[in-house]
Amino acid sequence: MANIYIAYGTVEGQTAQIAEYIADVARGHGHDVQTADIKKSGDTLPDGYDAVLVGASVHVGKHEGYVRDFVRKNTAALQRLPSAFFSVSLAAQGDEVNAEGYVEKFEAETGWRPAHVGLFSGALLYTHYGFLKRAMMKKIARDKGSLDTDTSRDYVYTEWDGVRRFTEDFLAGLATHVA
Ligand SMILES: Cc1cc2nc3c(=O)[nH]c(=O)nc-3n(C[C@H](O)[C@H](O)[C@H](O)COP(=O)(O)O)c2cc1C
Repeated sequence: MANIYIAYGTVEGQTAQIAEYIADVARGHGHDVQTADIKKSGDTLPDGYDAVLVGASVHVGKHEGYVRDFVRKNTAALQRLPSAFFSVSLAAQGDEVNAEGYVEKFEAETGWRPAHVGLFSGALLYTHYGFLKRAMMKKIARDKGSLDTDTSRDYVYTEWDGVRRFTEDFLAGLATHVA
């Protein structure tokens, strides 16, 4: 059994939901898991964890700056411990080149090259956005030829089975590190 820390950044909450889902899957496999919203918990990685996952979402081409700062500050621990990164974006839904590009940029900025990387589709949460953001995201969706432009509802694209597989692959790798 491992003690796992999941640190994440989120703007509209989808990455938080994915982090909690990963935590549930890991707990289901008997592990102890702590999730932390880096914006609230700060950039310290507490001692005593056997493995760390870091999650972030993409807005206007970039992951949260405070997640980048967290990774920069804790690179040594992330390189020493089994660790993984998951990136949440709309590009992960059918635009792999851009989704991978965001992660490459993040890796270049932080110097961390995680052995495990998950690219997860996020959500269009129209009902949570303010007026301007809602109009902007509707225009982006329309310009991309998407039919998901009904702003009276939300569209969640996250493929939970893929999140589960990513988590279980990571946990399987852990078995060789943690007795
Ligand atoms: C203002 C805004 C800008 C966004 N920019 C991008 C982008 O550049 N590329 C992309 O793939 N997704 C983009 N997205 C989609 C988000 O990555 C997606 O909504 C994700 O679910 C957000 O995760 P969060 O709720 O954890 O912040 C954008 C979303 C918003 C609201």
